[in-house]
Amino acid sequence: MFLIFQMLQLKWIFSTLLLIFGFGFCVLLLNIQNFCTTCRMIVYSSPTSTSATESETFPLRTKIQCERNPPFLVLLVTTTYKQKEARNAIRQTWGKERQIGDLLISTYFLLGASANVTIQEELIEESDTYNDIIQGDFRDTYYNLTLKTMMGIEWICAHCPQTKFVMKTDSDMFVNTGYLVELLVKKNQTTNFVTGSLRPDDVPIRNIHSKWYISETEYPLDQYPPFCSGTGYVFSVDVAQKIQNVSTTVPFFKLEDVYVGMCLEKLKINLQDLHSRPTFFEYKKPFTVCGYRKLVTSHGFPPHEMYLLRDTLRRSEAERC
Ligand SMILES: *[C@@H]1O[C@H](CO)[C@@H](O)[C@H](O)[C@H]1NC(C)=O
Ligand SMILES: *[C@@H]1O[C@H](CO)[C@@H](O)[C@H](O)[C@H]1NC(C)=O
Ligand SMILES: *[C@@H]1O[C@H](CO)[C@@H](O)[C@H](O)[C@H]1NC(C)=O
Ligand SMILES: *[C@@H]1O[C@H](CO)[C@@H](O)[C@H](O)[C@H]1NC(C)=O
Repeated sequence: MFLIFQMLQLKWIFSTLLLIFGFGFCVLLLNIQNFCTTCRMIVYSSPTSTSATESETFPLRTKIQCERNPPFLVLLVTTTYKQKEARNAIRQTWGKERQIGDLLISTYFLLGASANVTIQEELIEESDTYNDIIQGDFRDTYYNLTLKTMMGIEWICAHCPQTKFVMKTDSDMFVNTGYLVELLVKKNQTTNFVTGSLRPDDVPIRNIHSKWYISETEYPLDQYPPFCSGTGYVFSVDVAQKIQNVSTTVPFFKLEDVYVGMCLEKLKINLQDLHSRPTFFEYKKPFTVCGYRKLVTSHGFPPHEMYLLRDTLRRSEAERC
């Protein structure tokens, strides 16, 4: 009788313990879940986190299989999260992936980080849809453009060293990729090659109200090294690796195109013209069908004009020049 009573009591104690553990376990589980929601937010929204694994995956780094079908030319377009319309226009006009003969041309977009979770979610969606977003772990500001460009170069070295050429350009540009490829093939120089709109002897702007103002502390010399305008320049892929290499010894400079010029000067790589007449325009070249067939870049195109230009050029394909 006493034994049975004791067993019943044990059973009761056992059940109580089980209940307590069960409850504890549930609380723990809920906490883990909460913890992971925060995790995701941290991973996507904190531009200052620097842990090694995070910088590998943070924020959005498109991984392409370059070995299997190597592009001939990769276009890297600097944009901000606000310019989704421009990205869409580029995707449907000059940045549309295409094959010229057996030469593949692909386009990717370079972006900085946004601390706004909603915006980041939208970017994740965009990236899932198009697989062409390369995002960096830095604030998306004009004076961080150098970081953006260097990120693109680093990405090429890591993910697409099989391409032959790389072009860096902006989201308000028109790029005639067909003509560019034609000229690159004709030029037939696949190493130590850098071309674009050459600026052989630009000087630092000392006017404090200018967007390009540079103090003497930032740059004490009277003249910049030769560089190509950031509106559009092209280099053979070996140059990407070399720039990445040398950039560890070239101090940061906020003007992206000048910075690349500094790296090239240190590498003793000379800038070259792609053609005997100008083909890279930093300004908006007045439109004519024949003129636009024989240029590589023209500047100042809002999204709706990119569509217009594409349609106009298509309609006039039969026209002789
Ligand atoms: C984040 O961005 C969204 C969409 O642009 C905007 O509606 C919202 O106010 C922003 N939130 C913050 C905290 O800035
Ligand atoms: C560039 O990005 C870094 C990292 O997010 C940030 O600390 C810095 O303030 C930014 N620089 C400029 C000039 O916006
Ligand atoms: C391209 O250059 C290589 C060596 O620099 C040469 O062997 C080849 O014949 C050239 N091809 C054309 C089409 O000019
Ligand atoms: C990069 O630098 C390392 C060490 O300085 C050197 O061994 C390597 O050849 C360089 N690579 C390129 C592509 O310049």
